[in-house]
Amino acid sequence: MFSLVFATNNLHKLREIREITGNTINVRSLTDIGLDADIPETQDTIEGNARQKARFIYEKTGMDCFADDTGLEIAALNGEPGVYSARYAGEGCSFADNVRKVLEEMLGMDDRRACFRCAICLIYKGNEFVFEGRIDGEITFSQSGSDGFGYDPVFRPEGQPQTFAEMPPYLKNGLSHRGRAVHQMLQYLNQFQ
Ligand code: IMP
Repeated sequence: MFSLVFATNNLHKLREIREITGNTINVRSLTDIGLDADIPETQDTIEGNARQKARFIYEKTGMDCFADDTGLEIAALNGEPGVYSARYAGEGCSFADNVRKVLEEMLGMDDRRACFRCAICLIYKGNEFVFEGRIDGEITFSQSGSDGFGYDPVFRPEGQPQTFAEMPPYLKNGLSHRGRAVHQMLQYLNQFQ
């Protein structure tokens, strides 16, 4: 089985990645390897941030690892919050602050189209690869659901009756930007089996 360190301090992402990879990969958290680190993400693209996070952990540990970075792009807001999705409502803001800000910015807007894009950077045997996943959908007019994290209560994937936060994890993971990017990574890793 592959053993990869996942470069994140976000426990929601860690749980999702483990649900998505099942028993194909032994996903090791930073806690598992005893690393307490604040991982930088200062680039201006999600791909750049994913590379920066993975390189940071690789340089510290020399272990095979991967990182993801996600952006929510809202058409009527010219692609915002995009790469700045984590701190949309300001430095140190919560998920709830960000969700409130999205709903406020979109007050009175009929065009609700949005997408999540996720970039995963894998560093395996010293080589770096990037995989991307995307899901289109729309921003709802109010919050629904309590599962998931981040913007999940206001994002409804195309063709679905529920927001990500109303779905059981297997349904979100089967559709999501992260699920799609991870499946590409798994396909890529298959050649090394
Ligand atoms: P990052 O990838 O940690 O930089 O995430 C950027 C922002 O998007 C954070 O505010 C996350 O909470 C949010 N986010 C990341 N992945 C998801 C997701 O799967 N659903 C909803 N929000 C997400």
